[in-house]
Amino acid sequence: MTLKEVDSTNTFLKNILSNSKPVPEGTVIMAEHQFAGRGQRENTWYAEAGKNLTFSILLNPTFLSAQQQFDLTRAISMGVYDALYPLLRDSLKIKWPNDIYYNDTKLGGMLIENILKGSHIKHAIIGIGLNVNQENFHDSAVNATSIKNILQRDYELKNILAEICNHIEAYYLHLKAGRTEFVRNTYLSRLYWLNEWREFKSNGEQFEGRIIDVKENGLLVVERNRAQHLYNLKEIEFLNK
Ligand code: BTN
Repeated sequence: MTLKEVDSTNTFLKNILSNSKPVPEGTVIMAEHQFAGRGQRENTWYAEAGKNLTFSILLNPTFLSAQQQFDLTRAISMGVYDALYPLLRDSLKIKWPNDIYYNDTKLGGMLIENILKGSHIKHAIIGIGLNVNQENFHDSAVNATSIKNILQRDYELKNILAEICNHIEAYYLHLKAGRTEFVRNTYLSRLYWLNEWREFKSNGEQFEGRIIDVKENGLLVVERNRAQHLYNLKEIEFLNK
């Protein structure tokens, strides 16, 4: 379903899920203009009307426990990655936990909101924002880019959306079939700054470290002073020079 205008496709999907008759798994809500998009860490997601992909997908991954939520993050990130790979090749990376990067610039991100039932996931509202044909970005989005800024041409939003959905489905089926190791290893191999000595900041302190792994539950493993440190989402910042 395509909406001309909505505050947030994630909020819209969440509302129809709680207010109306059952929503089929795989439903995709896309907005031409999303005027109050929500990002990670309570940020706002800005996207110029008609130029970008802002959409949400409903999945019911009841086969995943609450502890396995990060496997879904991996599968969705990989779906977006594989859809864009033919266009953008090896400069495409996933910045932990789930930003889509091209070299040192951000092309897109996702906000996955899981609704749990007991110890399992009942619904996953998967919101994806991808900058496609927008050329100028808000001052607060310092390192934002778009496919057009990289490849110098416009792309048909619906075609990219279809590719993303196909690849997400493929990874989702890998997870469903229990091929978790494959999903984890592929995700790790696509990570931005994997095995590179870089500057990070945590607890107000700047240090050199390198990402060596991501734990099953999604914690980032960074080697620092010959020891391994684990970081949660809000606990570590990547410092680009
Ligand atoms: C981030 O990188 O901070 C995540 C951005 C997620 C944005 C998408 S756009 C579609 C969906 N609806 C929202 O309100 N947010 C997500």
